[in-house]
Amino acid sequence: MWLVTTFLLMAVTQTHADYPSLQAVLSQKGLQKVSHWVTDWFQNELGKITLPEVRGSVDIFVGSVYYVLHDMHVVRCDLPEPSVAFSEGTGVSLQVNGLSLAISGRWNTEFGIIHDGGSFDLAIYTINFNTLLGFQSTEEHLSISTLMCTADVEGIQVNFHGGGSFIFQPFVEKFSGRIKNMIQERICPGFQEGIENIDKDLAASDYIKMDPYVYLNVSLTDSPVVFNNGFELYIKGEFYSLSFPSEPPFAPNHFELPWKADYMLSVGMSEFCVNSAAFAYLNSGVLNITITNDMIPKASPIHLNTSQFGSLIPQLPKMYPDMEMEVVLYASDTPLISFNQTVINVNLPASAKFYAVKTHTDLIPLFRLDMQCSFNAKVHIDNQLLKGVLEMKNLTIVLGSTEIGKFDIAPFQSIVKLALNSFILPKMNAQLKEGLPLPLMKGFTLNNSVMTIENGFLVVATDINSPFDFLQSDKL
Ligand SMILES: *[C@@H]1O[C@H](CO)[C@@H](O)[C@H](O)[C@H]1NC(C)=O
Ligand SMILES: *[C@@H]1O[C@H](CO)[C@@H](O)[C@H](O)[C@H]1NC(C)=O
Ligand SMILES: *[C@@H]1O[C@H](CO)[C@@H](O)[C@H](O)[C@H]1NC(C)=O
Ligand SMILES: *[C@@H]1O[C@H](CO)[C@@H](O)[C@H](O)[C@H]1NC(C)=O
Ligand SMILES: *[C@@H]1O[C@H](CO)[C@@H](O)[C@H](O)[C@H]1NC(C)=O
Ligand SMILES: *[C@@H]1O[C@H](CO)[C@@H](O)[C@H](O)[C@H]1NC(C)=O
Repeated sequence: MWLVTTFLLMAVTQTHADYPSLQAVLSQKGLQKVSHWVTDWFQNELGKITLPEVRGSVDIFVGSVYYVLHDMHVVRCDLPEPSVAFSEGTGVSLQVNGLSLAISGRWNTEFGIIHDGGSFDLAIYTINFNTLLGFQSTEEHLSISTLMCTADVEGIQVNFHGGGSFIFQPFVEKFSGRIKNMIQERICPGFQEGIENIDKDLAASDYIKMDPYVYLNVSLTDSPVVFNNGFELYIKGEFYSLSFPSEPPFAPNHFELPWKADYMLSVGMSEFCVNSAAFAYLNSGVLNITITNDMIPKASPIHLNTSQFGSLIPQLPKMYPDMEMEVVLYASDTPLISFNQTVINVNLPASAKFYAVKTHTDLIPLFRLDMQCSFNAKVHIDNQLLKGVLEMKNLTIVLGSTEIGKFDIAPFQSIVKLALNSFILPKMNAQLKEGLPLPLMKGFTLNNSVMTIENGFLVVATDINSPFDFLQSDKL
């Protein structure tokens, strides 16, 4: 009995809303890249470490010399290439062997009434740094934590300059130990603080505003999975209208991302993700365009003019002789896109409202055409550009409503088909042949990208370059 109950419970809790519509995998190759960026960042953080003053005294037989080491700052930092690896089920381990820091500062001493001062250089070499980062899902967002961190400093060398610095040099051992511990104690907390800041940023962003109309919900539907050669994220990936957010009348579809280890990043996007975007734009009221006669090229055989439309609708010029016309073309329902093996099917329900223009504020409604258009698209990524071809599959037009009486719709159908096939699609295809830029985060570029259309989802596998690639490690 308990088995049945458990099974039923599992079936109930696994609702459609749980299906991620975006899935992303970072491979070992991608991790290597991210580790370059982290190295640059960490190097920067190390450069910002603030070192407190060191005070103390040394005994020089005839009394004690009080000293203070201050104004210490990192002047150089050499961070060798870290070794990074996925730690299955946990996160990522990062190991740096042989990091070195050069620090300079000032010294002052007091021996009775004798005050002295100068500068010093400090070389800290062979710092070994070892950390394990854990990835989990906390309240539907990715969180990163430092599970383990060790830093140990093998060697240190101090040189004092100026004043009576020769007095100190013999006591270097004493300073060294204190400074070594001080550095050692600061590396992990500094690193941890940086990771905590990244974690805070991650927690604060469960959506991405795409434009003034829609946002993308990027909360996690599941805990991230760390394989021994990759790291997978399951993202809700649903678009919402900013002005009228609501759930679309269709449900997320399940898919499994077939990712490729020889690309840094693989991203899968389901039909639902794309269709939720169409629904969100429809809800925001932006899927409409008003076509006026001015927008139609002079050379066009068709103009928006009641006299000209007389050949299609004989009663029109009689009722409204020689007036300009205007058309409001809008999506009457959500445009639906489906991915079917190599082909993208686009189904676009649209309506066109025709008006006679008395004045620009006084429009006389004439009639409405309801259209169902379907297209096939083939797309691929070439040179960071989205390229493809679009072809019309089917177009049906019916007269939705009319204020001027009935008329034959068949000639309209031929004209719209002609207009689509001889003007609009060729223009769009010329653009698609040139390529459209891919939406990318600022500064990031893609390399070696491939896009494949699968059943119900599409996959982009790619390498990534970022602006950080140009920052070199010896900038300090
Ligand atoms: C995103 O989706 C999650 C899960 O459905 C929800 O808890 C969260 O409030 C949503 N966030 C936004 C900004 O819509
Ligand atoms: C048409 O779209 C524009 C934005 O492109 C929007 O401001 C306007 O309200 C929309 N009109 C209708 C009737 O939906
Ligand atoms: C309508 O078109 C006819 C000829 O096609 C032209 O003579 C007339 O000026 C046009 N009327 C308007 C209002 O554009
Ligand atoms: C998907 O493509 C197959 C052939 O590749 C075809 O038989 C099927 O009808 C298509 N399905 C849809 C929904 O277009
Ligand atoms: C075109 O669509 C109509 C309905 O919108 C359908 O009856 C017809 O079979 C479709 N034709 C083709 C060739 O798919
Ligand atoms: C893109 O990849 C190719 C081959 O993997 C490589 O030779 C080239 O340097 C890469 N380009 C950039 C900008 O990284």
